[in-house]
Amino acid sequence: MQVQIKREKTKYIEEVNLLFEMVFQQEAISSLIKEFRASNHFIPELSRVARINEQIIGVIMYGKVEIVKGRKNVPSIMIASMAILPAYQNLGIGRELIDNSFQKARSMGYESVLAVGQEEYFPRFGFTPASDFDITTNLDLSDEEFLAMELKSGALDNASGKLKNQEFLPELAMYSL
Ligand SMILES: CC(C)(COP(=O)(O)OP(=O)(O)OC[C@H]1O[C@@H](n2cnc3c(N)ncnc32)[C@H](O)[C@@H]1OP(=O)(O)O)[C@@H](O)C(=O)NCCC(=O)NCCS
Repeated sequence: MQVQIKREKTKYIEEVNLLFEMVFQQEAISSLIKEFRASNHFIPELSRVARINEQIIGVIMYGKVEIVKGRKNVPSIMIASMAILPAYQNLGIGRELIDNSFQKARSMGYESVLAVGQEEYFPRFGFTPASDFDITTNLDLSDEEFLAMELKSGALDNASGKLKNQEFLPELAMYSL
């Protein structure tokens, strides 16, 4: 099985929308994703798709966020959504999408990444509760559900503050919790 990880191109968008609908079994996710893509949170350069024989079988998308305390403002990114077609889950494709997109994020200068939910899944990549770094959120999330990880060692040492600019999350997160 030859899996290719590629940057998401405009021509893939319809297929990606269908994939989200199939994975989450909800048509409404397409319009949330569309809104997210049109917002200034969306980071197109970090969207990745996994393909097998020209078929898109997985996707990961990120949004820009900020960790703010007083005048201090630490830019970061957040996994907005991630989905693998059921027939291809548990084959390491999620890991490939994460590894590939983290590498790109590092090359773009991002030093940390946040995530919500999937508290059984994300810790295997090094995510720990954001509260370990004193990062808080207004979103109604438990410690186990609100996660953070450094892409550069020490990046979150002094990042303590509140998550801002995460308007895209509450609704999208409903589909990932
Ligand atoms: C969660 C998801 C993205 C993981 O991708 P994947 O390609 O299936 O996962 P990988 O093959 O990289 O990792 C497999 C490992 O993760 C575990 N895993 C997979 N999905 C999991 C989940 N939802 N919760 C906890 N652990 C999970 C598997 O048990 C396996 O563990 P093992 O390595 O100890 O055997 C994928 O299963 C999916 O699309 N799920 C439905 C949509 C969803 O919930 N998306 C998350 C939004 S952030």
